[in-house]
Amino acid sequence: MMLETYNLTKQFNGKGGFKDVSLSVREGEVFSFLGKNGAGKSTFIRTLLGILYPTSGMGLMLGKPIGDVETRKKIGYLPELFQYHTWLTGYELLYNHGLLYKMKKNEIKARIDEVLKIVGLEGHEHKKIKQYSKGMKQRIGLGSAILSDPLLLFLDEPTSALDPLGRKQVRDIIFKLKNEGKTIFLNTHLLSEVELVSDRVAILDKGEMKKIGTMKELLHSPLMLSVGNCSEKIINELKKIDPLLERVGNDIKMSVERDNDLPKIADSVVKNDGLLYMMKRKENVLEELFINTVGEEDVR
Ligand SMILES: Nc1ncnc2c1ncn2[C@@H]1O[C@H](COP(=O)(O)OP(=O)(O)OP(=O)(O)O)[C@@H](O)[C@H]1O
Ligand SMILES: [Mg+2]
Repeated sequence: MMLETYNLTKQFNGKGGFKDVSLSVREGEVFSFLGKNGAGKSTFIRTLLGILYPTSGMGLMLGKPIGDVETRKKIGYLPELFQYHTWLTGYELLYNHGLLYKMKKNEIKARIDEVLKIVGLEGHEHKKIKQYSKGMKQRIGLGSAILSDPLLLFLDEPTSALDPLGRKQVRDIIFKLKNEGKTIFLNTHLLSEVELVSDRVAILDKGEMKKIGTMKELLHSPLMLSVGNCSEKIINELKKIDPLLERVGNDIKMSVERDNDLPKIADSVVKNDGLLYMMKRKENVLEELFINTVGEEDVR
């Protein structure tokens, strides 16, 4: 396990933060922490990194207790709303970051070339950061987070401020890093982001973890049918696939795990003189799950 927490809690005078979070992150996965503003996502990452001291519970990173100084060197972190040193060039920012990580000068130079390629900023490294677009700033921030070639990377809302193209660029970098075998812990409130990049997701609400699972487990998307001439015979046939299907008039909602069952379902309807007006998987399932889990009210 790259990361394990056991009832980890960080509160500020008994308020805010997060409470009793137990989770584990496996090697090579993209794990997303999803929650509204104020849910406790950033506090969680900052506690893992030893920036904040936990109130109770415990955590292990790369097998060592959180806060361990040696482990910290193997970890990359892109804070939310990262403050860029706009007077520096991209190259200088990366170089200084390498010095902070106590890397050797030659090693830093060689690694900067690699990092610039990964984040797609080759040719822009000698421009001042104040001349960078927001997307470029975010990418140079990512570059500094991965400069030390960390095994485990924490990204706190890396795409929130970006336009769709910028988001895609950052997402592509995340895929590249995942393909290299890195483990990535991502904080986000963007559902689309989660659906596109995550292997597993946890939903945090007002400091409490409400759900955790693979995308497939959480997004078990029901099949929606609209059937004219819907007879008992048809329903009985469909119940062979999902005994708990729900029917309201012509509309049927059923749970179908295997796509191989879809042609059978269409067949059962048509062969029994039903009129198949519509058959599709329900959309926006993650959004529905999220809203149902955290509610629509703004509490914190
Ligand atoms: N240093 C602090 N002192 C007191 N309260 C804090 C502190 N840091 C965070 N909090 C409170 O803890 C809660 C969680 O904040 P946190 O920043 O972790 O949320 P978040 O999920 O990252 O939100 P966002 O999506 O807005 O970044 C909030 O209620 C916040 O006000
Ligand atoms: Mg935050």
